[in-house]
Amino acid sequence: MADELKRGLEGVLVAESDLSYVDGEVGKLVYRGYDIEDLARGASYEEVLYLLWHGSLPTAAELDAFAADLAAEREVDDDVIETVRALAGAGERPMAALRTATSMLSAYDPDDEADAGEATLRQGRRITAKIPTVLAAFERVRQGEEPVAPDPDLSHAGNFLYMLTGTEPDDVSEETFDMALTLHADHGLNASTFTAMVIGSTMADVYSGVTGGIGALSGPLHGGANQDVMEVLHEVDASSKDPVQWVKDARDDGRRVPGFGHRVYKVKDPRANILEEKLRDLAESSGDTKWLDYTTAIEEYLTEQGLVEEGIAPNVDFYSGSVYDSLGIPVDMYTPIFAMSRVGGWIAHVAEYQEDNRLIRPRARYTGPEDSEFVPLDER
Ligand code: ACO
Repeated sequence: MADELKRGLEGVLVAESDLSYVDGEVGKLVYRGYDIEDLARGASYEEVLYLLWHGSLPTAAELDAFAADLAAEREVDDDVIETVRALAGAGERPMAALRTATSMLSAYDPDDEADAGEATLRQGRRITAKIPTVLAAFERVRQGEEPVAPDPDLSHAGNFLYMLTGTEPDDVSEETFDMALTLHADHGLNASTFTAMVIGSTMADVYSGVTGGIGALSGPLHGGANQDVMEVLHEVDASSKDPVQWVKDARDDGRRVPGFGHRVYKVKDPRANILEEKLRDLAESSGDTKWLDYTTAIEEYLTEQGLVEEGIAPNVDFYSGSVYDSLGIPVDMYTPIFAMSRVGGWIAHVAEYQEDNRLIRPRARYTGPEDSEFVPLDER
C-alpha cells in the first residue's frame, strides 16, 4: 500500500480542508458549507473572500471594513506599470505577463521581511487587490490606451470593469462579473491550488505561491478551456456553419468538445447551470441570442447523443466565455480573469495549510538503471 503509485495523485487525500467541497455525482459545490448557488446569487465576491479567508460570512460592518481595506490596496507601483508596458510591448501573453508582474509586486510589499504564514493573509489581501489593476493596465496598454487608476469607491468587480474600459459599468454587467468571480473562487485541490499549497508548505512567501498558481492555471489542461469554447463559437459564426455540424465534424475527427467533461463532475457542473441562466438573461435583455443559440444547440445535440448521460456534461467553461463576451472582455483575458478570482482560493488554502504545516514532499518510484559505471568526460 505504501508503495502504491497514483498517477496524477488521482484520488489521493493529502490534506484536510474546511474550504470547499465538490460532489461530482450530484453536481454540488459548497464553500464552507454554503451552496455555490446561494453564494453566487446572494453574496458579493468580497463576502466570499471574507468567508474563505476568515471562516464565516461577514456582518455588514465587517464587510464594510474588509472591502475598504481591500480597495485601499488596489494601486500598484509605477515600476510595475512600466514593466506591464514593456511586457505588452514585447507581445507577452496575458497569463505570462500576470505571472511576471505578480512576482514583482513583492518588491513593494511592506511585509516583505515578515514570516510567511504569519503574513500570508495580509500579503494575500494586497495581491488579490492588485491583480485586477495589473490585468486591466496590461489590456489597456496592449490596446494603445493609458491605464485607468483604480477607484476605491467601486466594488472589486465594478472597479475591474471600470479600469478595463474607462467607464463605470452598468449594474447588470457589474453583478454578472461579480457572480463569475464568486463561481471561480475555489474548487478543492485543483492543480493550481495544490501548486500554491506545495510552495506554501516550504514556508516560502505567498507571492511565490500565487505566482506558481498562475503558472499552473495557465496550462491548457487547467485554465484554458473557456477560451477554447469561445474560439469554437467564433469559428462557427465566421464560417456560418451550423454549430451541431461543427460538433459532428469534431467528433468524426476524434477531437473533444471544449467545455464538456470534467474529472470530478459526472453530471452538469452547477456553475454551468448558473452561468447558462445568466447568459439567457443577458441575451434576452440585449436581444442578441447568438451565443445562447449556439451553446443550446450543442448541448441539446450532445444530450440526444447520450454523451451527457455518460457523464460528459457541460462544465463551467462552456458558458463562461459567452458571458464574458457579452461584457466585451477579449477572449485571451478569460484565463487571467479566472486567476483574478481563484487567487482568493489559493490564498485561503495556503493560509489554512500553514496553520498546521507539514512540508509536502512525495516520492517517485525509481525506474532508472542501477550501478551505472562512471566514465570520465574525456573517455566518453
Ligand atoms: N468531448 C468528447 N469526449 C470527451 C470529452 C469531450 N469534451 N471529455 C471526455 N471525453 C471522453 C474521452 O474521449 C474518453 O472517452 P474514451 O474512454 O472513449 O477515450 C472519456 O470521455 C473519458 O475521458 P478522460 O480524458 O479519461 O476523462 P478525464 O476525467 O481525464 O477528462 C477533461 C476530464 C480533461 C476535462 C476532459 O473532459 C476534457 O478534455 N474536456 C474538454 C476540455 C475542457 O472543457 N476542460 C475544462 C474542464 S473544467 C476546468 O478545468 C475549469
